[in-house]
Amino acid sequence: MTSADAATVRGVTSDAPADGLGGLPPSPAVWCSGLRKRYGRRTAVDDVSFTVARGEVLGLLGPNGAGKTSVIKMLLGLVRPDAGEVLLLGRRSSDPRSRAAVGYLPELFRYQPWLTAAEVLDLHVKLAGAEVAPAERRECLALVGLAARAGDRVGGFSKGMQQRLGLAVALVARPELVVLDEPTSALDPIGRVDVRDIVLSLKSRGVAVLLNSHLIGEVERVCDRVVILDEGRVAASGTLAELLGQREVRLRLAGSDARAEDRMRAAGSMARSGDWFTVQLSSDDDGVTVPDLVRDLVALGVRVHAVEPVRISLEERLLAVLRHEEPAP
Ligand SMILES: Nc1ncnc2c1ncn2[C@@H]1O[C@H](COP(=O)(O)OP(=O)(O)OP(=O)(O)O)[C@@H](O)[C@H]1O
Ligand SMILES: [Mg+2]
Repeated sequence: MTSADAATVRGVTSDAPADGLGGLPPSPAVWCSGLRKRYGRRTAVDDVSFTVARGEVLGLLGPNGAGKTSVIKMLLGLVRPDAGEVLLLGRRSSDPRSRAAVGYLPELFRYQPWLTAAEVLDLHVKLAGAEVAPAERRECLALVGLAARAGDRVGGFSKGMQQRLGLAVALVARPELVVLDEPTSALDPIGRVDVRDIVLSLKSRGVAVLLNSHLIGEVERVCDRVVILDEGRVAASGTLAELLGQREVRLRLAGSDARAEDRMRAAGSMARSGDWFTVQLSSDDDGVTVPDLVRDLVALGVRVHAVEPVRISLEERLLAVLRHEEPAP
């Protein structure tokens, strides 16, 4: 983004209501530009810019020490950036109101061990200045699987139970933006699926989610867009479709002949294994190659039993970006 663009964003957001009144579209949940942070001589974050739209789930990926937690802390005003700007829900991060509708699950945290789970939640509702009925607080504990432990002291909670409580704290005050820094690192497989469902349910209600996780499969299932950080810089970013692309299509055909094979070769280089045909698609495919191919194969009298898009996994893409094996999109 140029400084002129940044100035435009500043101008709009300082004058406009944060909730999209006045005919303006709602401001993004997160907007940050040119974030930098040094610790001593080490640059932890170097010119990071991205946005998270309302109702969007953005995955922040990258190896240990890439700067993910540092970025999150700068977004939330917990670490002061050396340079760069942040707007949360349309407000400058220097304005405490910018954080009023943000739920945050930190990477490392400890609650007061003498409080019960229900008391921790009560405390955070109070701190958020929100009105949340007791029944809704109980529902929130139930959502993270802690209904039966509401009255137990947090000091006796297992690691995963503490993380579940942290998630409940992040969700209880009906946030418009939820920031989760490795929400499932201590969770069992059922807990991980629960978190996935919770993130998807937040998204369906228009809540934006910024998710940092090393569990790539998890990110791939729930995220709309991904930002990959490496050594403090954005190494790649984009929607899953942009990052992963659709490189090949596999077709199971009956009655294929030379004309059908020629038609497939016209779409891209083709390989055959029994009834299965794999066609490589060009990287600038505009989305009509496959439907047009299927239509023509049917017209040629071929019976089409299966059409399977084959795309690389996010893990493969992440590793390729981090190993500099291919240019980042
Ligand atoms: N308070 C601090 N003091 C000194 N250096 C720090 C501090 N916080 C972070 N760093 C350094 O900044 C860099 C980025 O750290 P950060 O915690 O943001 O990484 P991360 O991407 O979240 O990694 P992980 O996946 O391990 O959580 C690291 O080199 C780290 O040592
Ligand atoms: Mg971290």
